[in-house]
Amino acid sequence: MKNIFLFFSLLLFMCACVQNKTYTALDPENFVSTKDGKETALFTLKNDNGMVAQFTNYGARLVSLYVPDRDGNFQDVTWGYETIEDYFNSTDIYCGPIVGRYGNRINKGKFSLNGKDYQLTLNNNGNHLHGGTQGFECKVWDTEYVSKPGNDVLKMSYYAKDGEEGYPGDLDISVYYSLTDDNALKIEYQATSKDTTIINPTSHAYFNLAGTSDVTILNHVLKINASNFTPTDQSLIPTGEIRKLTGSPLDFRQPTAIGKRIDTQCEALIYGQGYDHNYILDKKNKQITEAAVIYSPESGIEMSVLTDQPALQFYSGNFMDGTLTGKYGDVHNYRTGFALEAQNYPDAPNHDHFPSAILNPGETYTQTTIYKFGVKE
Ligand code: GLA
Repeated sequence: MKNIFLFFSLLLFMCACVQNKTYTALDPENFVSTKDGKETALFTLKNDNGMVAQFTNYGARLVSLYVPDRDGNFQDVTWGYETIEDYFNSTDIYCGPIVGRYGNRINKGKFSLNGKDYQLTLNNNGNHLHGGTQGFECKVWDTEYVSKPGNDVLKMSYYAKDGEEGYPGDLDISVYYSLTDDNALKIEYQATSKDTTIINPTSHAYFNLAGTSDVTILNHVLKINASNFTPTDQSLIPTGEIRKLTGSPLDFRQPTAIGKRIDTQCEALIYGQGYDHNYILDKKNKQITEAAVIYSPESGIEMSVLTDQPALQFYSGNFMDGTLTGKYGDVHNYRTGFALEAQNYPDAPNHDHFPSAILNPGETYTQTTIYKFGVKE
């Protein structure tokens, strides 16, 4: 009898742990540290429906994002770590930050502006990726809550000096995170530069809408509103071609499970080791339009990505190898998280027919990208 009692107590305790796994408030104390003489911390936004988002100013990172599933239980749908030290040790997977000054790749880190050649740092197979070895994701951003009409807004700002990672121009960038009452995480960017420069910041948040990173994202059903993509060479640098997606396993215009065609033996999927491609969104101007919709049959959570950007990088977590452990002890295994990064095309500064990434003095770079959540029965 005593044993049966013990067994049921243990069972109840385990259920409570599972429950907690989906909605554990992170300890702000674990985010207090200093880097480059600046203090790091954890910041929280909430909306009227109980949705919660947490951030750290180290890399302007999204740390956790609690959204309701089809049963009304809150699930944490983004990857993150429980301590700032874990973030200091895991920079190369770009977990949740704003990456830049130029998100994505630049061929051999070279480009020319106004007749002058520039060489950026090389950190990815002889190319430049996500702003270099010490990109925006490694910087401590100045952070404050600001009042704007509507919900609380978290403003994070960084001043990138002329020459940093090889980029020209002192750049002043601010990112505004907010949670709206229609359950959306809104990210607005603004930047100005003293000299002509190039810019392409993006959020590198990883998601797993099943509410746990213990399972792969291969069951997620994805739709991307793009009819074309930019094929690449083996090191994922665009060749310059703009190719139609019709007939390709990369075509997500009809909602399709990510796992259905991911191992097709075609050049693009072999080079990316899965999906790691730039989709050219079907749009003509800088209006905010729906770029993608993705849904987890496990939780019923559906996420729409809306943006004013011309393209979307879809990355299916192909370089995860299980060496990093995130929140709740979830191991970051192969294809257990995906990223949908709204941005300009990779290597745009080296292709005149790609949208311009140039920012001139006196101009203001802006971007709005929204990750909106709902449920599907
Ligand atoms: C991006 C790239 C991928 C990979 C990840 C980080 O999304 O496109 O190739 O480098 O970042 O691991």
